[in-house]
Amino acid sequence: MKKKVLIIGGNGYLGQHLLQSLSESQKSVEDELLISFTYHSVPPPQLLLQSFPKAIPFQVDLQTGQGFDSISHTFGQPDVVVNCAALSVPRACEAEPTVAMSINVPSSLIKWLSSFGESNTLLIHLSTDQVYEGTKSFYKEDDKTHPVNVYGNSKVAAEEYIFANWSNFAILRSSIIFGPQTISPVSKSLPIQWMDSVLANGQETTFFHDEFRCPIFVKDVVNIIQVLADRWFSDGEKIQLVLNVGGPDRLSRVQMAEVVARVRGYNTSLIKPVSASSIDRGVKSPADISMDITKLVNNTLFLLEIKDLRTNVIPRSRDEIH
Ligand SMILES: NC(=O)c1ccc[n+]([C@@H]2O[C@H](COP(=O)([O-])OP(=O)(O)OC[C@H]3O[C@@H](n4cnc5c(N)ncnc54)[C@H](OP(=O)(O)O)[C@@H]3O)[C@@H](O)[C@H]2O)c1
Repeated sequence: MKKKVLIIGGNGYLGQHLLQSLSESQKSVEDELLISFTYHSVPPPQLLLQSFPKAIPFQVDLQTGQGFDSISHTFGQPDVVVNCAALSVPRACEAEPTVAMSINVPSSLIKWLSSFGESNTLLIHLSTDQVYEGTKSFYKEDDKTHPVNVYGNSKVAAEEYIFANWSNFAILRSSIIFGPQTISPVSKSLPIQWMDSVLANGQETTFFHDEFRCPIFVKDVVNIIQVLADRWFSDGEKIQLVLNVGGPDRLSRVQMAEVVARVRGYNTSLIKPVSASSIDRGVKSPADISMDITKLVNNTLFLLEIKDLRTNVIPRSRDEIH
């Protein structure tokens, strides 16, 4: 029987990269997956539908659970659900905490999955590095979570909800995801592309020198998700896994901008370091949420399978920006 994968938030940044990779990895009719995805606010553009003609779109609202019934009727129980949907902009979460909680805690999704009975679906859920407080370097998965903003709080609440209500899951605490624009461009600002555009204009721009993250290449995140899914397809062993999902380097925004400038040949004197504390972004932001990714790299799940987790973070070539 063909395996079924459902991507919640498949029209978003990570969701589209995942759709692309899953669609491209179909080597033969035998390994073909049945793929569906959800969107929420606007119907997917033609470009997206044409690019992934076999992926079935469904409109779903995580706040109310509306739309899940039609997935049950036409697609049925998925073997894997990847939850990429969220109110993912921290300032928007701060402005509307109730909305943030009701989207980011996947209670409607898990209630729907529970309607099929046992946890025969693997749930791969995207969390964030912002579950950590940001007062030390290289957080490990078993360090205490202590978010400083609503976004982080909603993600911790989501993790707790999953622990309490589903028994087959992987929670991926992702750092900033960077990589090329999606096939059908997303409207939100992408970090490396933004740095590229301001530096290309020859504009002096301020960057924080005292906030640290472990940015990860989008295709590495996609690979991790695919390995988890393949593993479940092949051995059927349930997991309860929390993983820090970051790249290998702890970087400030200044350091990220310097790499972009180097790769693109811009003048690094355009980069003006400032303290994050000097700017009011309307939301608290954790200072150092760099992560220890030993578990990701050493975990036997990944040891053999992810050979190319980037050793150099941030674009190596122009292709990785555009
Ligand atoms: N991108 C990063 O750098 C980063 C870093 C750390 C963690 N993460 C996490 O990784 C996941 C994917 O991030 P992303 O950057 O791909 O997000 P994104 O581009 O902002 O996409 C968000 C998705 O959520 C959907 N959505 C929003 N409200 C919804 C609702 N009420 N019901 C159902 N779906 C709804 C959106 O659909 P519509 O567009 O149709 O509304 C969209 O598909 C998120 O959980 C995010 O928090 C991302």
